[in-house]
Parts: sequence; structure tokens; C-alpha cells
Amino acid sequence: MAGLFISFEGIDGAGKSTHIHALAAALRASGCEVTQTREPGGTPLAEQLRTLVLNDPMDAMTEALLVFAARRDHIQRVIAPALARGEVVLCDRFTDATFAYQGGGREFDWDTLSELERWVQSEPGTAERARGTRLLQPDLTFWFDLPADVAAKRLAGARVPDKFEAQPQAFFEKVAWGYAKRLAFDAKRFARIDANQSPELVWLDVLQAMRDRALLP
Ligand code: TMP
Repeated sequence: MAGLFISFEGIDGAGKSTHIHALAAALRASGCEVTQTREPGGTPLAEQLRTLVLNDPMDAMTEALLVFAARRDHIQRVIAPALARGEVVLCDRFTDATFAYQGGGREFDWDTLSELERWVQSEPGTAERARGTRLLQPDLTFWFDLPADVAAKRLAGARVPDKFEAQPQAFFEKVAWGYAKRLAFDAKRFARIDANQSPELVWLDVLQAMRDRALLP
């Protein structure tokens, strides 16, 4: 599978959306075909699951199963075909969010999430993939790292909060811990961005991370 897969992560309020749009524009300006998408979501089915996950009360396992079901549909219909066409896929959240929110925030079993990850992200088609030893993962993950108290101030009064945005600060401290654990496990995949600065400085760091990896001129 060719193409380039970049995901964007961080607690609610970390401010990733503006930079995803800006990066899509910069990549298009440099001649790349870009597919911009999000999780949970990105297909009609996955968007329906998103509405359930973000609004309906449910236990952590149900949440995990629904986000992985949405992810499976998203990979098959959008991400894998775009990568096969050689495009750059910019995805607002991917599996690290499941480990951070369901694993960290909701304290759901990490090993079960790893097992679901292996099921859902096995790339079918080769013997290696059939054994589940090769998983579809982002080539690069931006982690917009912001202290939970700063995020809480940013979110206060910004809009009507969804189920996750309405969580207390302690929840987001556990989510951040989940992200840090994922980074420690696979550090070379991550670019950690200090999101506690002005949007202009955050954008410069995003550009620098892309240039350091020779992904932008
Ligand atoms: P968004 O507001 O950045 O679009 O993200 C949607 C919310 O869904 C956000 O609060 C994080 C949460 N989420 C999970 O709990 N698990 C997941 O696997 C994903 C992708 C998102």
C-alpha cells in the first residue's frame, strides 16, 4: 500500500482542527492528492455510529466495539482505497484515540483494545497480513499535547458539549496518560506538538515536523 497516512490526536480543546485544514491546503499546494477525514466517522455508516457514541450513554466496552466497527468500515471504504491510489490521508483521530479515551479515560482493558486493533487493522491480502502481523497504522501521528486544565478553560462555554467534552478535567488527565502510553510504545510514529502556545507557533511546529520527515518541501 503506497500513499501516506497521517493522524491527528489530542484531548478535546487541543486545537487540532485548524491545523488539519491548513496542512491539507499546504499539501495540495505542493501537488499532493489529499483525503481529509475523521473518526469516528468518515463514511455514512461510521457517521451514524459517531452520533451514537458521542451522545448515548453506554459502557466502555460498547463504546470500544462501536468505534472499532466504525473504523473497520472507514478503513475499507475510505482509508485503504485512498492509500492505494497513492494519496495523503489526513485523519482527525484514529486508534490512539480509542486507547486514550476508552483505555485511559474510561479505564477499559488495554489488552482487549490491542486485540480489537489487531482484528480491525489487519491488512488482508498477503500471508503476512492474514496472520495479523501487519497492521494498518498511521505513518505519522501528530499528538497535540495540552494540559487538561488549559483545555478545560478553552472548552468552557465554547459550544454545547458532547458526551466526552462534558467530562471533568480528571477524565482528560487520564486520556492524556493514555496518549503518553501509546507514544512510549511506538515513539518514532509520533510528532508531539506543544499545543499550549499560540496557533501560529503550533502551525510552525507542525510544518517543522513535516519537513524533518521530508514530507513537505
Ligand atoms: P472530535 O470531537 O475530535 O471529532 O472527536 C470525537 C470524540 O470522540 C472525542 O471526544 C474523542 C472521542 N473518541 C473516542 O472516545 N474514541 C475513539 O476511538 C475516537 C476516534 C474518538
